[in-house]
Amino acid sequence: MNTRFRFLAALLLAAAACTAGAATKTIQLPPDGAQLTPSPLPGYAKAQVNCVACHSAEYMLYQPPTAPRGYWEAMVKRMKAVFKAPVPDEDMPAIVDYLVKTYGNEKGR
Ligand code: HEC
Repeated sequence: MNTRFRFLAALLLAAAACTAGAATKTIQLPPDGAQLTPSPLPGYAKAQVNCVACHSAEYMLYQPPTAPRGYWEAMVKRMKAVFKAPVPDEDMPAIVDYLVKTYGNEKGR
């Protein structure tokens, strides 16, 4: 955590403490797409570690639901090659498996 973020976090905490109890608060949860869709597949946890550091999980939802396994494989490879996503090679098959079964054409299989 860098110091600037820590300073911001402290500010936010202080602000929250000042206003706590003053008024009824409503907490706006992010839309569902901001989180990866939960799954018992082993690739779910790996995708949480490797695929939402730079952008939200919403990016997965914008992909065609007809996208086959090869499409997701190419996507993960592209994230690695073009954007330097630190995805370990041995985790790629599990991640692709999770993606195609959660967002692609193997959904529900
Ligand atoms: C190092 C940062 C980084 C990581 C980690 C990362 N991505 Fe991305 N991803 C990007 C950027 C930057 C874009 C936007 C590319 C663009 O606008 O064309 C993107 C775009 C996408 C898109 C939108 C489609 C597209 O072609 O632009 C999808 C889907 C996606 N990423 C999936 C993944 C998956 C799956 C993983 C995990 C294996 C992952 N990303 C990890 C940086 C990252």
